Amino acid sequence: MAAGDFNVIMVGAGYAMFGTPEGPWNIAKRAEQKLGERLKVDAVIEVNPARGEEVLGIKRDGPHKASYKDTLILPNVAEFKKRVDSGESKEPRAIFVATPPTVRGSTQSGKDLEIQLNKAFPNVAIFFEKPVATGQPWEESVGEALKVSEYLKKNHKAPISIGYVLRYLKIVQQVKKIIEENNLTVMATNARFVVAYELAIKTEWWNKDIMLGPIIEQATHICDLVRFLGGEIDFETISAHALEAHEKPGQLSKKNFDESAIPDELRIPRATSASWKYESGAVGIFLHSTALHGVDYEVQLEVFADGYQFILQNIFGSSKSPELHVRRPGSDKIEVTVTEGDDAYQTEMNHFIDAIEGGPEPEIFSSYEDAAKTYEMTWVIRNSAEQSQKKIDDKKAKA
Ligand SMILES: NC(=O)c1ccc[n+]([C@@H]2O[C@H](COP(=O)([O-])OP(=O)(O)OC[C@H]3O[C@@H](n4cnc5c(N)ncnc54)[C@H](O)[C@@H]3O)[C@@H](O)[C@H]2O)c1
Repeated sequence: MAAGDFNVIMVGAGYAMFGTPEGPWNIAKRAEQKLGERLKVDAVIEVNPARGEEVLGIKRDGPHKASYKDTLILPNVAEFKKRVDSGESKEPRAIFVATPPTVRGSTQSGKDLEIQLNKAFPNVAIFFEKPVATGQPWEESVGEALKVSEYLKKNHKAPISIGYVLRYLKIVQQVKKIIEENNLTVMATNARFVVAYELAIKTEWWNKDIMLGPIIEQATHICDLVRFLGGEIDFETISAHALEAHEKPGQLSKKNFDESAIPDELRIPRATSASWKYESGAVGIFLHSTALHGVDYEVQLEVFADGYQFILQNIFGSSKSPELHVRRPGSDKIEVTVTEGDDAYQTEMNHFIDAIEGGPEPEIFSSYEDAAKTYEMTWVIRNSAEQSQKKIDDKKAKA
């Protein structure tokens, strides 16, 4: 039984770290759940101290106040390192990072949080939110993310986990298990991520120059999942098309923000379709769209192998429980499993802490290297769609 204080620091005091009404993400809550009284948050590292004060104010009034009793708010990791060196603070057991990806995923100063953390604490486990980076121009940004991956592989001496949380869903693990146990080769995948856009009110999200667009920022989850279940993709085969904001089917009636502030060429596509070949020879298709009203997203993945069909439903942003439908050889019957209350964020946290302490579920399903490849994939989809659109627009302009 693991026992004793579990000291951590939290970098970034935003929604992913401390929660939001918009979704179930909340790293602090999952750490509290896993560690209980053992959790000691020694510092919140925040460039905007007011945000840190606000969340700590809430925590210090809440049921886990003991974990936040002595939490400091510091502007950077170097300040905390000084305290550890001088003996004022303990070296943490874990670091949670949920900053915007713009300040990480690169070897360049100001965007090299991973390297700063590694230099300060090479023996401390780190959890980073997805995606590992966001930057432009894309070749440079992807190249930098891959460099960081190499750097960490060489220099970091403790577990690193990336927040590709869907890998931890029970139904995903179930599919993985059936594939492995039956030695199946995936033949085809069909993924879709359809957003209920009515509540997406942050203008930055609708500007692809700021958050880089929904494929890189959001559909990254399903791109990662198809790589997890389908295997490596030959990125050179990716071919994509987009329905752009200025095209007739792209007119949306329920926008709750002012899109006129965003120049047309920077508005996000309303739908993106893509297809590819896996390195195995299998094929994949994909759709992302901002088509739905209301609240629930429609995120689904189908996986086919000889004699098998797997349909994974309600896997992200839905009030309905995740559901797995399986058809196997020898029967046309569909077996349905509903995993009510499955909290993949909690499972992800449990695995991360177990990896540090040698607990019962120590597997980390998303490495930095793997996540950097997913980042590359999402850029390749965006680029392919933009190139295709440019050809169409040029053709129309000439006609
Ligand atoms: N896995 C998921 O389901 C999920 C859900 C939401 C967000 N995320 C990811 O989490 C990350 C953060 O998103 P968010 O919604 O919490 O953003 P946010 O803007 O709410 O919070 C980020 C916080 O980081 C702070 N910050 C910025 N630069 C910093 C630095 N150098 N050092 C310390 N703090 C810094 C900001 O001041 C802000 O308070 C993003 O990568 C996002 O994609 C993942």
